[in-house]
Amino acid sequence: MDGVESAGGQLGAVLAAPRDGGAVALAPGGPWLATSLEQARQVLTDPAAFDFPGNVNRTGDLSGSRGDTRSGHTVFAPVSPEDVARGVEVFDTEWAAALRDHVPGGGDEPYDAMVLLRRPVARSTTAAVLAGLDDARRDVVADRVLAWIDALGPVIAAPRRPRRWSGIRRAEERTRGALEDTLDEARAGLPGERRTTQEVATILAAGIQVPIAAGAFLLAWLAQHPSAGTDPAHVVWETLRLTPPTWLTARVTTREVDLGGTRIPEGRVVFVSPLLLGRLDTLVPGGSGTLAHFDPDRWRDQARRPGAWLPFGAGPHACPGRNLGLAVLGSLARWGGAHELTLSEDVRVDQSRGISPAPCRFTATARSETSP
Ligand code: HEM
Repeated sequence: MDGVESAGGQLGAVLAAPRDGGAVALAPGGPWLATSLEQARQVLTDPAAFDFPGNVNRTGDLSGSRGDTRSGHTVFAPVSPEDVARGVEVFDTEWAAALRDHVPGGGDEPYDAMVLLRRPVARSTTAAVLAGLDDARRDVVADRVLAWIDALGPVIAAPRRPRRWSGIRRAEERTRGALEDTLDEARAGLPGERRTTQEVATILAAGIQVPIAAGAFLLAWLAQHPSAGTDPAHVVWETLRLTPPTWLTARVTTREVDLGGTRIPEGRVVFVSPLLLGRLDTLVPGGSGTLAHFDPDRWRDQARRPGAWLPFGAGPHACPGRNLGLAVLGSLARWGGAHELTLSEDVRVDQSRGISPAPCRFTATARSETSP
């Protein structure tokens, strides 16, 4: 996946930015980019000075779905340990089913990671977020979230916000409406449910789309760098370091700010990039010449804390699904370590919605010495 380092577009511009000085303007008048951990923390932990942009939804991946401002700042409760445990259990069952069923009637066609992960992740996150749903309802909700995520894709990829009457806006509204109707009905039977329908829809969408991309990157990295015997947790962190799906998150200044000595006027966009921070040798062990390479074993060096590059964000709007995401990816990394994965074609990095590996087709053979 050399495509990350040599990518053009916004990703290339961010990777090419000078690091560890003040905030850098990517164009005259902005947007600006935080280039150190301290600046990133300042942006993410002070929502009074750095608000969410009005037309970008929380993950930065769901832009255009609503024009409302994020002022008001709903804070989501973290997914509880019991909910994480249930989510991972569902993921394991559904992952085994997806592998078994991916070609109707069997056959040895390659898997497509971005497709294969859809149902296991969607059902796992839905089970974790909506405790008490029976399996049939869970599966309907999961499918409706996937449909909404798919319909949001073209809205996000459009160079300009599509007009109200455009086909892609209407498809997005229709699928969101169908999801909200299903959620209203499903949640009516759940005692103690206090979140709004929109909040639950947002958690589900954020908690499904991003882990699918993260899981697909993980499988792509493992196929390129077989790592039997490597600690699965290290594989997960190394994946989230080199290819964090939410590689860029945006805020808007609500007043003039000083960011690392750079003055930024009110009303300007400021980016934080976990992908850039994950390439700072102050945060990652192994030496500056190695930071573009996938090397999970670098995390054996316990002097540096994995995750310092903020793949789950920071502050009041840090990811509430962090522990579920880590647990699901850990499970996938264990499966990957027990198999020999072979990519069927080169993997490109798609930048149309966060980053994702597209396509990511691979075959898998159980390693005889480690297969269950
Ligand atoms: C590998 C998996 C995941 C990664 C890498 C990830 C990454 C992130 C990041 C970086 C943010 C902060 C964005 C920002 O500051 O603008 C975020 C926010 C969020 N994530 Fe995750 N996430 C993951 C899994 C999940 C899961 C499983 C859930 C739900 C169960 C979830 C729900 C959310 C929500 C609701 C927000 C918005 C929080 C807010 O605005 O207050 N995420 N995620």
